[in-house]
Amino acid sequence: MKVISFFSAKGGTGKTTFNMLLASYLKYEKGQRVMLLDFDAPEYNLSFCRKRELAGVKEAVDESALYPIEAVRDLSEGNLATVAGMVRKMEGVLDYVVMDFKGSFLSGDPVCVMAEAGVLDMVVIPVELDAMIVASMKSLALLFKENGQQALLFFNRVHGKERPTQYEAVRLWFEEHGCRVARSQVKGNIGMKREQGEGHFVRSTLCFPGKEIRKSNPGIVGLLEEVIGYDGD
Ligand SMILES: Nc1ncnc2c1ncn2[C@@H]1O[C@H](COP(=O)(O)OP(=O)(O)OP(=O)(O)O)[C@@H](O)[C@H]1O
Ligand SMILES: [Mg+2]
Repeated sequence: MKVISFFSAKGGTGKTTFNMLLASYLKYEKGQRVMLLDFDAPEYNLSFCRKRELAGVKEAVDESALYPIEAVRDLSEGNLATVAGMVRKMEGVLDYVVMDFKGSFLSGDPVCVMAEAGVLDMVVIPVELDAMIVASMKSLALLFKENGQQALLFFNRVHGKERPTQYEAVRLWFEEHGCRVARSQVKGNIGMKREQGEGHFVRSTLCFPGKEIRKSNPGIVGLLEEVIGYDGD
Protein backbone atom coordinates (compact mmCIF):
# COMPACT_ATOMS: atom_id res chain seq x y z
CA MET A 1 0.00 0.00 0.00
CA LYS A 2 1.18 3.49 -0.76
CA VAL A 3 -0.10 6.79 0.63
CA ILE A 4 0.28 9.68 -1.80
CA SER A 5 -0.74 13.32 -1.74
CA PHE A 6 -0.47 16.07 -4.27
CA PHE A 7 0.41 18.80 -1.86
CA SER A 8 1.67 22.35 -1.73
CA ALA A 9 1.85 24.82 1.11
CA LYS A 10 0.29 27.30 -1.29
CA GLY A 11 -3.46 27.51 -1.96
CA GLY A 12 -5.04 27.11 -5.38
CA THR A 13 -2.18 25.22 -7.01
CA GLY A 14 -4.05 22.13 -8.18
CA LYS A 15 -3.82 19.82 -5.15
CA THR A 16 -7.45 18.77 -5.17
CA THR A 17 -7.61 18.51 -8.96
CA PHE A 18 -4.63 16.17 -9.11
CA ASN A 19 -5.62 14.11 -6.07
CA MET A 20 -8.93 13.48 -7.78
CA LEU A 21 -7.22 12.65 -11.08
CA LEU A 22 -4.81 10.28 -9.34
CA ALA A 23 -7.53 8.44 -7.40
CA SER A 24 -9.73 8.16 -10.52
CA TYR A 25 -6.81 6.99 -12.65
CA LEU A 26 -5.74 4.34 -10.14
CA LYS A 27 -9.25 3.04 -9.60
CA TYR A 28 -10.91 3.30 -13.00
CA GLU A 29 -7.95 2.80 -15.35
CA LYS A 30 -5.70 0.56 -13.25
CA GLY A 31 -8.26 -1.36 -11.19
CA GLN A 32 -6.46 -0.58 -7.94
CA ARG A 33 -8.09 -0.54 -4.51
CA VAL A 34 -8.18 3.14 -3.59
CA MET A 35 -9.51 5.33 -0.80
CA LEU A 36 -9.47 9.09 -0.80
CA LEU A 37 -9.19 10.92 2.50
CA ASP A 38 -10.37 14.52 2.46
CA PHE A 39 -8.81 16.65 5.20
CA ASP A 40 -9.60 19.99 3.59
CA ALA A 41 -11.88 21.61 6.15
CA PRO A 42 -14.19 23.39 6.03
CA GLU A 43 -14.84 23.14 2.28
CA TYR A 44 -14.27 19.40 1.80
CA ASN A 45 -14.25 20.02 -1.95
CA LEU A 46 -13.81 16.38 -2.92
CA SER A 47 -16.58 15.02 -0.75
CA PHE A 48 -18.84 17.78 -2.00
CA CYS A 49 -17.86 17.11 -5.59
CA ARG A 50 -18.74 13.40 -5.28
CA LYS A 51 -22.18 14.28 -3.88
CA ARG A 52 -22.81 16.81 -6.63
CA GLU A 53 -21.69 14.39 -9.32
CA LEU A 54 -23.93 11.62 -7.99
CA ALA A 55 -26.89 14.02 -7.85
CA GLY A 56 -26.21 15.06 -11.45
CA VAL A 57 -26.16 11.66 -13.17
CA LYS A 58 -29.38 10.31 -14.66
CA GLU A 59 -28.62 6.57 -14.61
CA ALA A 60 -28.26 4.64 -11.37
CA VAL A 61 -24.65 4.45 -10.23
CA ASP A 62 -23.24 1.39 -8.51
CA GLU A 63 -21.56 3.18 -5.64
CA SER A 64 -19.65 0.07 -4.64
CA ALA A 65 -17.71 0.44 -7.90
CA LEU A 66 -16.47 3.89 -6.86
CA TYR A 67 -13.56 4.64 -4.57
CA PRO A 68 -14.75 5.87 -1.18
CA ILE A 69 -14.13 9.50 -0.28
CA GLU A 70 -13.98 9.95 3.48
CA ALA A 71 -14.08 13.46 4.91
CA VAL A 72 -12.07 13.69 8.12
CA ARG A 73 -14.09 16.24 10.08
CA ASP A 74 -12.48 15.98 13.48
CA LEU A 75 -9.00 17.41 13.00
CA SER A 76 -7.99 17.29 16.65
CA GLU A 77 -4.60 15.78 17.38
CA GLY A 78 -6.20 12.75 19.05
CA ASN A 79 -8.44 11.98 16.11
CA LEU A 80 -5.66 12.49 13.58
CA ALA A 81 -3.61 9.91 15.48
CA THR A 82 -6.59 7.53 15.27
CA VAL A 83 -6.89 8.16 11.52
CA ALA A 84 -3.17 7.50 11.08
CA GLY A 85 -3.61 4.20 12.91
CA MET A 86 -6.59 3.28 10.74
CA VAL A 87 -4.66 4.03 7.57
CA ARG A 88 -1.86 1.73 8.73
CA LYS A 89 -4.39 -1.05 9.22
CA MET A 90 -5.44 -0.72 5.55
CA GLU A 91 -2.19 -2.43 4.53
CA GLY A 92 -3.20 -5.43 2.43
CA VAL A 93 -6.80 -4.18 2.10
CA LEU A 94 -6.05 -1.16 -0.10
CA ASP A 95 -3.39 -0.52 -2.72
CA TYR A 96 -3.44 3.27 -2.46
CA VAL A 97 -4.65 5.96 -0.10
CA VAL A 98 -4.79 9.45 -1.61
CA MET A 99 -4.91 12.36 0.84
CA ASP A 100 -6.16 15.85 0.07
CA PHE A 101 -4.99 18.57 2.45
CA LYS A 102 -5.41 22.31 2.59
CA GLY A 103 -2.52 24.51 1.48
CA SER A 104 -1.00 25.06 4.88
CA PHE A 105 2.09 23.49 6.43
CA LEU A 106 2.06 24.50 10.07
CA SER A 107 2.77 22.28 13.03
CA GLY A 108 -0.39 20.34 13.90
CA ASP A 109 -1.83 20.61 10.38
CA PRO A 110 -3.11 17.21 9.20
CA VAL A 111 -0.39 16.99 6.53
CA CYS A 112 2.32 17.48 9.16
CA VAL A 113 0.73 14.97 11.51
CA MET A 114 0.46 12.33 8.75
CA ALA A 115 4.04 13.00 7.62
CA GLU A 116 5.45 12.87 11.15
CA ALA A 117 3.47 9.71 11.93
CA GLY A 118 5.23 8.12 8.93
CA VAL A 119 1.90 7.36 7.28
CA LEU A 120 2.41 9.61 4.26
CA ASP A 121 4.77 7.94 1.78
CA MET A 122 4.96 10.44 -1.04
CA VAL A 123 4.15 14.04 -1.85
CA VAL A 124 3.85 15.43 -5.36
CA ILE A 125 4.31 19.17 -5.52
CA PRO A 126 2.94 21.38 -8.31
CA VAL A 127 5.29 24.15 -9.39
CA GLU A 128 4.60 27.15 -11.57
CA LEU A 129 7.40 29.20 -13.05
CA ASP A 130 7.73 32.05 -10.62
CA ALA A 131 10.92 32.73 -8.67
CA MET A 132 9.28 32.83 -5.23
CA ILE A 133 7.20 29.72 -5.82
CA VAL A 134 10.15 27.81 -7.22
CA ALA A 135 12.31 28.60 -4.16
CA SER A 136 9.61 27.78 -1.63
CA MET A 137 8.64 24.52 -3.36
CA LYS A 138 12.27 23.42 -3.23
CA SER A 139 12.30 24.04 0.54
CA LEU A 140 9.02 22.18 0.93
CA ALA A 141 10.29 19.17 -1.03
CA LEU A 142 13.47 19.06 1.05
CA LEU A 143 11.51 19.25 4.32
CA PHE A 144 9.46 16.23 3.30
CA LYS A 145 12.58 14.37 2.15
CA GLU A 146 14.32 15.01 5.46
CA ASN A 147 11.25 13.58 7.17
CA GLY A 148 11.43 10.39 5.09
CA GLN A 149 8.78 11.07 2.43
CA GLN A 150 9.46 10.66 -1.25
CA ALA A 151 9.04 13.99 -2.99
CA LEU A 152 8.47 14.66 -6.66
CA LEU A 153 7.87 18.07 -8.20
CA PHE A 154 6.10 18.77 -11.48
CA PHE A 155 5.46 21.80 -13.64
CA ASN A 156 1.79 22.72 -13.70
CA ARG A 157 -0.04 25.23 -15.90
CA VAL A 158 2.61 25.26 -18.57
CA HIS A 159 1.24 27.73 -21.08
CA GLY A 160 3.87 27.43 -23.74
CA LYS A 161 4.61 31.14 -23.49
CA GLU A 162 7.64 30.45 -21.36
CA ARG A 163 10.60 29.12 -23.29
CA PRO A 164 11.26 25.39 -22.78
CA THR A 165 14.83 26.30 -21.83
CA GLN A 166 13.49 28.15 -18.78
CA TYR A 167 11.88 24.97 -17.53
CA GLU A 168 15.05 23.03 -18.20
CA ALA A 169 17.08 25.58 -16.24
CA VAL A 170 14.70 25.36 -13.28
CA ARG A 171 14.65 21.55 -13.48
CA LEU A 172 18.46 21.50 -13.34
CA TRP A 173 18.44 23.90 -10.40
CA PHE A 174 15.99 21.64 -8.52
CA GLU A 175 18.06 18.57 -9.30
CA GLU A 176 21.26 20.24 -8.17
CA HIS A 177 19.48 20.73 -4.83
CA GLY A 178 18.46 17.10 -4.60
CA CYS A 179 14.83 17.50 -5.77
CA ARG A 180 13.41 15.34 -8.56
CA VAL A 181 11.15 16.85 -11.19
CA ALA A 182 8.72 14.79 -13.29
CA ARG A 183 9.47 14.70 -17.03
CA SER A 184 5.80 15.24 -17.86
CA GLN A 185 4.43 18.76 -17.73
CA VAL A 186 0.77 19.71 -17.38
CA LYS A 187 -0.75 22.40 -19.57
CA GLY A 188 -2.93 25.12 -18.13
CA ASN A 189 -6.20 23.96 -19.69
CA ILE A 190 -7.78 21.77 -17.02
CA GLY A 191 -11.43 22.60 -16.45
CA MET A 192 -14.60 21.33 -14.89
CA LYS A 193 -17.44 20.04 -17.04
CA ARG A 194 -19.62 22.99 -16.14
CA GLU A 195 -16.83 25.45 -16.98
CA GLN A 196 -15.87 24.10 -20.38
CA GLY A 197 -18.82 22.12 -21.69
CA GLU A 198 -19.20 18.43 -22.49
CA GLY A 199 -16.15 16.73 -23.86
CA HIS A 200 -13.48 18.91 -22.35
CA PHE A 201 -13.76 18.24 -18.67
CA VAL A 202 -11.03 16.25 -17.02
CA ARG A 203 -12.09 16.21 -13.37
CA SER A 204 -14.43 13.56 -12.06
CA THR A 205 -14.66 11.27 -9.07
CA LEU A 206 -16.92 8.87 -11.03
CA CYS A 207 -14.67 8.13 -13.99
CA PHE A 208 -11.30 8.88 -15.51
CA PRO A 209 -12.05 10.78 -18.71
CA GLY A 210 -9.02 9.28 -20.38
CA LYS A 211 -9.90 10.12 -23.98
CA GLU A 212 -10.41 13.81 -23.26
CA ILE A 213 -7.27 14.01 -21.18
CA ARG A 214 -5.07 12.24 -23.68
CA LYS A 215 -6.27 14.63 -26.38
CA SER A 216 -6.29 17.92 -24.54
CA ASN A 217 -3.54 17.51 -21.94
CA PRO A 218 -1.39 14.44 -22.56
CA GLY A 219 1.03 15.42 -19.81
CA ILE A 220 -1.52 14.35 -17.19
CA VAL A 221 -1.37 10.62 -17.92
CA GLY A 222 2.41 10.84 -18.25
CA LEU A 223 2.62 12.55 -14.87
CA LEU A 224 0.30 10.04 -13.17
CA GLU A 225 2.40 7.18 -14.55
CA GLU A 226 5.57 8.85 -13.26
CA VAL A 227 3.97 9.27 -9.84
CA ILE A 228 2.87 5.63 -9.68
CA GLY A 229 6.23 4.39 -10.90
CA TYR A 230 8.32 6.62 -8.65
CA ASP A 231 10.29 4.84 -6.00
CA GLY A 232 12.51 7.59 -4.70
CA ASP A 233 15.99 8.55 -5.77
N1 LIG B 1 -3.18 22.72 -15.14
C1 LIG B 1 -4.23 23.49 -14.84
N2 LIG B 1 -4.89 24.13 -15.80
C2 LIG B 1 -5.94 24.93 -15.55
N3 LIG B 1 -6.47 25.13 -14.35
C3 LIG B 1 -5.86 24.49 -13.35
C4 LIG B 1 -4.73 23.65 -13.52
N4 LIG B 1 -4.36 23.18 -12.33
C5 LIG B 1 -5.24 23.70 -11.45
N5 LIG B 1 -6.14 24.48 -12.07
C6 LIG B 1 -7.29 25.22 -11.53
O1 LIG B 1 -6.87 25.93 -10.40
C7 LIG B 1 -7.96 26.01 -9.49
C8 LIG B 1 -7.48 25.53 -8.16
O2 LIG B 1 -7.24 24.13 -8.25
P1 LIG B 1 -7.48 23.18 -7.03
O3 LIG B 1 -8.77 23.47 -6.35
O4 LIG B 1 -7.23 21.80 -7.50
O5 LIG B 1 -6.26 23.68 -6.14
P2 LIG B 1 -5.98 23.44 -4.60
O6 LIG B 1 -4.51 23.54 -4.48
O7 LIG B 1 -6.63 22.19 -4.14
O8 LIG B 1 -6.70 24.69 -3.94
P3 LIG B 1 -7.06 24.93 -2.40
O9 LIG B 1 -5.79 25.45 -1.79
O10 LIG B 1 -8.15 25.94 -2.47
O11 LIG B 1 -7.48 23.60 -1.82
C9 LIG B 1 -9.10 25.16 -10.03
O12 LIG B 1 -10.05 26.01 -10.67
C10 LIG B 1 -8.39 24.28 -11.05
O13 LIG B 1 -9.26 23.91 -12.11
MG1 LIG C 1 -7.94 21.84 -2.56
